[in-house]
Amino acid sequence: MREVAPALLAWYDRHARSLPWRVPPGGGRADPYRVWLSEIMLQQTTVAAVRAYFLRFTALWPTVEALAAADDAQVMAEWAGLGYYARARNLLACARQVVAQGGFPQDRTALMTLPGIGPYTSAAIAAIAFDQPETVVDGNVERVVARLFAVETPLPAAKPELTRLAATLTPQTRPGDFAQAMMDLGATICTPRNPACALCPLNAMCAAFRAGIAPELPRRSPK
Ligand code: ADE
Repeated sequence: MREVAPALLAWYDRHARSLPWRVPPGGGRADPYRVWLSEIMLQQTTVAAVRAYFLRFTALWPTVEALAAADDAQVMAEWAGLGYYARARNLLACARQVVAQGGFPQDRTALMTLPGIGPYTSAAIAAIAFDQPETVVDGNVERVVARLFAVETPLPAAKPELTRLAATLTPQTRPGDFAQAMMDLGATICTPRNPACALCPLNAMCAAFRAGIAPELPRRSPK
């Protein structure tokens, strides 16, 4: 669906959530260090909880060089409360490897070789920090795509199909904004229950909305 990206980006320009790791629309390139740090923190933690930790970390360690030189115990102490402490250990290992390599690599496969960076996080960093046309698929994006295309296959079996369909939507320009717009749409409009379809910038293109089944998708296999 060629018209999805322009409509979504126009919506994002007006309604993007203001988050401390983002640059405002038109504000230039995102800092790879801040994108990476936020994506690691967001792996298993909500946006609301990450905000304060992100601000504290970037105040203490404004650059990847500063974080690489940090005291391990202080980093672990500042991480306390975010949980999943392997993330904090990988954070330090990654920062030190990045500094030793002279900076963050820009492509997804190279990013994946770094500690703590898997398929999702590598795609997010490549798109948001480096403008690579990678597709970022989390639970929010799966829901948006399942509804746009009225995918009836239940999760988790539908995952490969949803990833493939999501990739067909990713634009060559502003892929990072597009990824974050999909996340914002899923978090604020295309919500699991009671989606606000009347306010959705994609409702004219949404097969589930047209069929009156948006709230029912994605379907899930019984456990
Ligand atoms: N969840 C994971 N990455 C995110 C981002 N960049 N913005 C909002 N939510 C996210």
